[in-house]
Amino acid sequence: MSKPVILTGLRANNDLHIGNYFGAMLPIIDTAKQRAGEYQVNMFIPDLHSFTTEIDHSQLQGHVMNNARLYVASGLPLDNHDILLYRQSYVPAHSELTWILDCFTAMGEMSRMTQFKDKSSKLGDRIGVGLFNYPVLMACDILLYGAQYVPVGDDQTQHLEFTRDIAGRMNSKFDDLFTVPHEVAKQHEFFGKGQGLRIMDLADPGKKMSKSADSDKGVIFLTDNPEVAHKKIMSATTDDLASVNYNPIEQPGISNLIQILALLRGHPIDDVEQAYKGMDKYGDFKRIVADEMKQFLGDFQSKLSGVSDDAIHGAFKRSEEVANEQANQTLLRVQRAVGLRPKES
Ligand code: ADP
Ligand code: TRP
Repeated sequence: MSKPVILTGLRANNDLHIGNYFGAMLPIIDTAKQRAGEYQVNMFIPDLHSFTTEIDHSQLQGHVMNNARLYVASGLPLDNHDILLYRQSYVPAHSELTWILDCFTAMGEMSRMTQFKDKSSKLGDRIGVGLFNYPVLMACDILLYGAQYVPVGDDQTQHLEFTRDIAGRMNSKFDDLFTVPHEVAKQHEFFGKGQGLRIMDLADPGKKMSKSADSDKGVIFLTDNPEVAHKKIMSATTDDLASVNYNPIEQPGISNLIQILALLRGHPIDDVEQAYKGMDKYGDFKRIVADEMKQFLGDFQSKLSGVSDDAIHGAFKRSEEVANEQANQTLLRVQRAVGLRPKES
């Protein structure tokens, strides 16, 4: 880990959607390409996180491969030795460090996590202990490699703050054990954003677009048929103000579409807003967004069909060796500090 590390992972429990793509995948992949040589980039598949909520386990292997293919179709280069693509469960140090850090985490800290509160209110009695303490596993994913930059969407900010807290707490108890990731504002600055991104559900713009939404109507998956995605945008919920403006509070649906168009074009929201401000026919504006989405998905899916599984397996093999080496070094440092291994003489 001689270079600063940028790291992110996306759970492999379903297809990924455009919120995942723009919120988490694109920032790291763009950085990997534009600043090659300066950073180590860890793009991993958090397969142990996949069953914090119930899944069909017979599908997990397939979902893991799908995630890897989506990373590659999004532009992740596999032929660069600074870029690691690995499966979390192939690096046992993640689970082992989690147990140790579990013992330094308070129940209260975990119960305050908004995501836990949201998901557990839906699941009731069926809630697993894994969902409760998964932020600890996530912290370990980050701390094992000393990652400083962790691009995630807005909903994961609290988990990142927790990672900084536990790392700081361990560092003051046991000398300097961990590299503390940068504070969230600095991360946004690094990835050229003002804040964490939150693409909203097209049908219900009061909620974030999510793989686990009750209905697919408002979610655009990267593997959606482009025509179907076009229709989803044409039927997006808007408002009756009949004026295109970026105002997420008063006009969440239209603002979401402006945001999506800005991301598709790689332009700032302000530029897109200025170009269409005041337009009164929402149908016309939606068609502009829908056409660009259709084009984007068509291009994306043609890249996806060209991805080689052999290249992915090759990258897993190479990366998992390096990841194990690096993660084990950190784990040993922690084991020594907490007394599980003799101190270095
Ligand atoms: P989901 O809620 O769809 O299950 P995950 O929790 O697996 O998504 O999130 C994977 C990554 O994608 C995380 O970094 C998360 O912050 C980001 N992400 C998820 N949904 C969105 C969204 N609607 N807008 C922006 N980023 C998102
Ligand atoms: N918890 C993240 C999510 O649900 C996925 C994740 C697991 C992750 N470990 C991570 C993201 C480490 C960034 C860094 O989306």
